[in-house]
Amino acid sequence: MSQLLKDRTDYVITLKDINLRYSGEKDEVTALRDINLGIKNGEFICVLGPSGCGKSTLLKIIAGFLKPSDGEAKMDNEPINGPDWHRGVVFQSPTLYPWLNVRDNVAFGLKMRKLPKNDIEELTNKYLELVGLKGFEKHRPYELSGGMKQRASLARVLVNKPKMILMDEPFGALDALTRQNMQTLIRKVWTKTENTVFLITHDVDEALALGTRIIVMSSRPGKIIKEFNTDFTYHISGENHESPRYTPKYMEVREEILDIINCQD
Ligand SMILES: Nc1ncnc2c1ncn2[C@@H]1O[C@H](COP(=O)(O)OP(=O)(O)OP(=O)(O)O)[C@@H](O)[C@H]1O
Ligand SMILES: [Mg+2]
Repeated sequence: MSQLLKDRTDYVITLKDINLRYSGEKDEVTALRDINLGIKNGEFICVLGPSGCGKSTLLKIIAGFLKPSDGEAKMDNEPINGPDWHRGVVFQSPTLYPWLNVRDNVAFGLKMRKLPKNDIEELTNKYLELVGLKGFEKHRPYELSGGMKQRASLARVLVNKPKMILMDEPFGALDALTRQNMQTLIRKVWTKTENTVFLITHDVDEALALGTRIIVMSSRPGKIIKEFNTDFTYHISGENHESPRYTPKYMEVREEILDIINCQD
């Protein structure tokens, strides 16, 4: 681990010398090796890497679903000992209770935490509005499109005002247009809430359109092999809405990332 990482105190998340081994029936699988990563407040991290390289495993460690075999994972300098609403997780398939309507799905966690009724009402309204689901509060999940379900899942996480949002290929199952709308939404949420975001994607353009830092992983055992600091997301969300997509700088970074990933396959 670098001295720089050790000395920094403004990290929300620090992963230090992490290995993760899964024990299978016959042998062990080393999914992650030597992971060292510091995530700063307000960063939008996008993770890219070949299938099976350990991206979801990494997210599960940060979320607190998995304990590393070696090393330590900390949030605000405290060990991560389990899932916690400070770290909200959005998966590829929306996780909604089918028997509850949208409003009750979004309010569920707050009710569990026994927040005062008025606060629940206020927070639920605020985040339903932010994700564009006003008017659909009474709908059940089966009455929603894929994109709307994912908006509801996001609102369900946001009402808890998490410090960090973790997303595992959240838009992977959506059609291209819906996907683009969801990218715009998540960028807006990130800007408005000043959250820290950790998003896994298979799509280089998605990573470039959203991330302030892109992390590229090697095939199994997954290691972080390269990081890119990028600012295309600010250009896209800026007043002029300029598309950086076909600028030389964009193409250059895109090519470099694709070369690294393709070399792994
Ligand atoms: N519960 C488990 N038990 C044993 N091995 C596992 C388990 N979960 C994942 N693995 C293995 O660990 C490796 C990393 O899996 P992981 O799901 O983290 O990869 P990924 O990068 O998210 O892949 P994908 O891009 O396909 O979603 C894979 O080889 C996988 O088969
Ligand atoms: Mg995965």
